[in-house]
Amino acid sequence: MEFRIRRATFEDLNSLVEIEAECFTDEAFTKNQLEYCLKSSDFVSLVALVDEKIVGFIIGSIEILGNETAGHVYTLDIMKEYRKKGFGGKLLDSFESILVEKGVRTVYLEVRVDNIPARRLYSKHGYRPFKTLKDYYEPKVDAVMLRKFLRP
Ligand SMILES: CC(C)(COP(=O)(O)OP(=O)(O)OC[C@H]1O[C@@H](n2cnc3c(N)ncnc32)[C@H](O)[C@@H]1OP(=O)(O)O)[C@@H](O)C(=O)NCCC(=O)NCCS
Repeated sequence: MEFRIRRATFEDLNSLVEIEAECFTDEAFTKNQLEYCLKSSDFVSLVALVDEKIVGFIIGSIEILGNETAGHVYTLDIMKEYRKKGFGGKLLDSFESILVEKGVRTVYLEVRVDNIPARRLYSKHGYRPFKTLKDYYEPKVDAVMLRKFLRP
């Protein structure tokens, strides 16, 4: 089995749409939103491949917040049958490395309070909660904002 990560391209759009639908129901990004992310230079999009098949992806942006730039993870998806093999963590590591190369020192994201697999993954990778967003996804479903300070 050969694993690698590369930048996502516009040709990957349909695969990303399928994986997003497998990973999320109500909160899935639409095809139009994913297309926008792939086309915009403000976003960093990476795909994970197993034997050249796309099995997951990460999409995040680089935002200007006052005098600083920050990375913002929008979505991290791994197909069900490829989970718990370290691929999600590898995508996150690669995304962070690109941020560091670009001089970005902070990365943040929102995650559902009840998304235990994702919260454990982010915690293991050094992300810490700093804010709760009440009713963020739907009434009574809060998000936790997590943040990590990156080392150059
Ligand atoms: C969250 C997700 C990306 C994790 O991907 P993955 O490739 O399975 O994660 P990894 O194998 O890199 O796991 C890294 C760590 O995350 C935690 N973790 C992952 N899946 C877990 C699960 N089902 N239950 C508990 N902890 C889990 C563990 O701490 C794991 O480390 P360990 O294997 O040493 O115990 C994947 O479950 C997924 O795509 N979920 C649906 C989409 C989603 O919720 N994305 C996050 C949105 S913010």
